[in-house]
Amino acid sequence: MSILTILEFPDRRLRTKARDVTVFDRSVTDLVEDMIETMYDYKGVGLAATQVNIHQRVIVIDTSEEKNSPLCLINPEILEKDGVEESEEGCLSVPGFFELVTRAEHIKLKARDKHGKPFEMEAGELLAVCIQHEIDHLDGKLFVDYLSPLKRRRIKSKLEKIHKQQGKKK
Ligand code: NI
Repeated sequence: MSILTILEFPDRRLRTKARDVTVFDRSVTDLVEDMIETMYDYKGVGLAATQVNIHQRVIVIDTSEEKNSPLCLINPEILEKDGVEESEEGCLSVPGFFELVTRAEHIKLKARDKHGKPFEMEAGELLAVCIQHEIDHLDGKLFVDYLSPLKRRRIKSKLEKIHKQQGKKK
Protein backbone atom coordinates (compact mmCIF):
# COMPACT_ATOMS: atom_id res chain seq x y z
CA MET A 1 0.00 0.00 0.00
CA SER A 2 1.12 3.53 -0.53
CA ILE A 3 0.15 7.09 0.26
CA LEU A 4 -0.85 8.95 -2.90
CA THR A 5 -0.26 12.62 -3.69
CA ILE A 6 -3.39 14.78 -3.59
CA LEU A 7 -3.87 17.46 -6.25
CA GLU A 8 -4.80 20.89 -4.92
CA PHE A 9 -7.07 23.62 -6.29
CA PRO A 10 -6.64 25.34 -8.76
CA ASP A 11 -4.85 22.40 -10.46
CA ARG A 12 -6.57 21.90 -13.84
CA ARG A 13 -6.38 18.12 -13.55
CA LEU A 14 -9.08 18.33 -10.85
CA ARG A 15 -11.41 19.42 -13.68
CA THR A 16 -11.12 16.10 -15.54
CA LYS A 17 -14.31 14.08 -15.89
CA ALA A 18 -13.63 10.54 -14.69
CA ARG A 19 -14.61 7.42 -16.64
CA ASP A 20 -16.56 4.42 -15.42
CA VAL A 21 -14.57 1.43 -14.23
CA THR A 22 -15.29 -1.40 -16.68
CA VAL A 23 -12.75 -4.03 -15.67
CA PHE A 24 -12.65 -5.09 -12.04
CA ASP A 25 -9.19 -6.51 -11.52
CA ARG A 26 -6.33 -6.24 -9.06
CA SER A 27 -5.54 -2.69 -10.18
CA VAL A 28 -8.95 -1.57 -8.88
CA THR A 29 -8.65 -3.25 -5.46
CA ASP A 30 -5.08 -1.90 -5.13
CA LEU A 31 -6.25 1.61 -6.00
CA VAL A 32 -9.08 1.39 -3.44
CA GLU A 33 -6.63 0.28 -0.71
CA ASP A 34 -4.19 3.06 -1.53
CA MET A 35 -7.00 5.60 -1.54
CA ILE A 36 -8.30 4.44 1.86
CA GLU A 37 -4.80 4.64 3.33
CA THR A 38 -4.31 8.09 1.81
CA MET A 39 -7.68 9.33 3.14
CA TYR A 40 -6.79 8.18 6.68
CA ASP A 41 -3.28 9.61 6.44
CA TYR A 42 -4.64 13.04 5.48
CA LYS A 43 -7.44 12.74 8.08
CA GLY A 44 -10.15 13.20 5.48
CA VAL A 45 -13.68 11.76 5.47
CA GLY A 46 -13.67 11.08 1.74
CA LEU A 47 -11.47 10.89 -1.32
CA ALA A 48 -12.22 10.63 -5.04
CA ALA A 49 -9.75 9.08 -7.49
CA THR A 50 -9.73 12.37 -9.43
CA GLN A 51 -7.95 13.94 -6.45
CA VAL A 52 -5.03 11.54 -6.83
CA ASN A 53 -4.93 12.12 -10.59
CA ILE A 54 -6.57 8.83 -11.52
CA HIS A 55 -9.59 9.54 -13.67
CA GLN A 56 -11.81 6.58 -12.90
CA ARG A 57 -15.09 6.70 -11.03
CA VAL A 58 -13.85 5.47 -7.66
CA ILE A 59 -14.68 7.00 -4.27
CA VAL A 60 -13.76 6.06 -0.71
CA ILE A 61 -15.52 7.49 2.34
CA ASP A 62 -15.38 6.98 6.09
CA THR A 63 -17.60 9.19 8.22
CA SER A 64 -17.24 7.02 11.35
CA GLU A 65 -15.62 8.50 14.49
CA GLU A 66 -13.36 5.47 14.89
CA LYS A 67 -12.18 5.57 11.26
CA ASN A 68 -12.72 1.87 10.88
CA SER A 69 -15.62 1.57 8.43
CA PRO A 70 -14.44 2.56 4.96
CA LEU A 71 -17.07 2.61 2.23
CA CYS A 72 -16.04 2.20 -1.39
CA LEU A 73 -18.29 3.38 -4.21
CA ILE A 74 -17.43 2.60 -7.82
CA ASN A 75 -19.41 4.11 -10.71
CA PRO A 76 -21.81 5.72 -8.21
CA GLU A 77 -25.09 7.15 -9.52
CA ILE A 78 -27.59 9.13 -7.51
CA LEU A 79 -31.12 7.82 -8.15
CA GLU A 80 -33.14 10.07 -5.86
CA LYS A 81 -32.54 13.23 -3.89
CA ASP A 82 -34.71 14.95 -1.37
CA GLY A 83 -34.60 17.67 1.24
CA VAL A 84 -32.12 20.49 1.52
CA GLU A 85 -29.24 20.73 3.94
CA GLU A 86 -26.63 23.42 4.40
CA SER A 87 -23.39 22.34 6.04
CA GLU A 88 -19.79 23.40 6.31
CA GLU A 89 -17.58 21.55 3.84
CA GLY A 90 -13.88 21.20 3.46
CA CYS A 91 -11.78 19.26 0.96
CA LEU A 92 -8.32 17.71 0.92
CA SER A 93 -7.82 19.43 -2.45
CA VAL A 94 -8.69 22.82 -0.92
CA PRO A 95 -6.76 22.52 2.36
CA GLY A 96 -7.50 24.96 5.18
CA PHE A 97 -10.81 26.33 3.84
CA PHE A 98 -14.29 25.54 5.13
CA GLU A 99 -17.45 27.03 3.66
CA LEU A 100 -21.20 26.48 3.77
CA VAL A 101 -22.61 24.48 0.85
CA THR A 102 -26.23 23.48 0.17
CA ARG A 103 -26.88 19.86 -0.82
CA ALA A 104 -29.70 17.33 -0.81
CA GLU A 105 -30.37 16.06 2.70
CA HIS A 106 -31.17 12.52 1.72
CA ILE A 107 -30.10 10.48 -1.30
CA LYS A 108 -30.63 7.06 -2.77
CA LEU A 109 -27.88 5.72 -5.00
CA LYS A 110 -26.52 2.74 -6.83
CA ALA A 111 -22.87 1.80 -7.16
CA ARG A 112 -20.54 -1.16 -7.40
CA ASP A 113 -18.17 -2.44 -4.74
CA LYS A 114 -14.45 -2.94 -5.38
CA HIS A 115 -15.13 -6.38 -6.86
CA GLY A 116 -17.74 -5.02 -9.26
CA LYS A 117 -20.81 -6.23 -7.35
CA PRO A 118 -23.73 -3.79 -7.78
CA PHE A 119 -25.67 -2.52 -4.78
CA GLU A 120 -28.08 0.22 -3.78
CA MET A 121 -28.04 2.29 -0.61
CA GLU A 122 -29.61 5.28 1.05
CA ALA A 123 -27.73 7.98 2.91
CA GLY A 124 -28.57 11.01 5.01
CA GLU A 125 -26.79 13.77 6.89
CA LEU A 126 -22.99 13.81 6.77
CA LEU A 127 -22.75 10.67 4.63
CA ALA A 128 -25.17 12.09 2.04
CA VAL A 129 -23.23 15.36 1.88
CA CYS A 130 -19.95 13.51 1.60
CA ILE A 131 -21.16 11.25 -1.24
CA GLN A 132 -22.47 14.26 -3.22
CA HIS A 133 -19.16 16.10 -2.66
CA GLU A 134 -17.11 13.12 -3.87
CA ILE A 135 -19.31 12.44 -6.92
CA ASP A 136 -18.78 16.10 -7.85
CA HIS A 137 -15.03 15.42 -7.89
CA LEU A 138 -15.57 12.64 -10.46
CA ASP A 139 -17.34 15.20 -12.64
CA GLY A 140 -14.51 17.70 -12.30
CA LYS A 141 -16.39 19.85 -9.82
CA LEU A 142 -15.20 21.28 -6.49
CA PHE A 143 -17.11 22.69 -3.51
CA VAL A 144 -15.60 26.12 -4.20
CA ASP A 145 -17.71 26.18 -7.40
CA TYR A 146 -20.76 26.73 -5.17
CA LEU A 147 -19.26 29.87 -3.58
CA SER A 148 -19.36 33.42 -4.87
CA PRO A 149 -16.74 34.24 -7.54
CA LEU A 150 -15.13 36.65 -5.07
CA LYS A 151 -14.75 34.00 -2.37
CA ARG A 152 -13.46 31.49 -4.92
CA ARG A 153 -10.86 33.95 -6.24
CA ARG A 154 -9.66 34.66 -2.68
CA ILE A 155 -9.20 30.97 -1.94
CA LYS A 156 -7.46 30.48 -5.30
CA SER A 157 -4.94 33.27 -4.74
CA LYS A 158 -4.23 32.19 -1.16
CA LEU A 159 -3.54 28.62 -2.27
CA GLU A 160 -1.43 29.77 -5.24
CA LYS A 161 0.68 31.79 -2.83
CA ILE A 162 1.16 28.75 -0.59
CA HIS A 163 2.05 26.55 -3.59
CA LYS A 164 4.63 29.11 -4.70
CA GLN A 165 6.23 29.12 -1.25
CA GLN A 166 6.22 25.32 -1.18
CA GLY A 167 7.86 25.30 -4.62
CA LYS A 168 10.66 27.57 -3.45
CA LYS A 169 11.45 25.33 -0.49
CA LYS A 170 12.03 22.30 -2.73
NI1 NI B 1 -13.11 17.04 -1.78
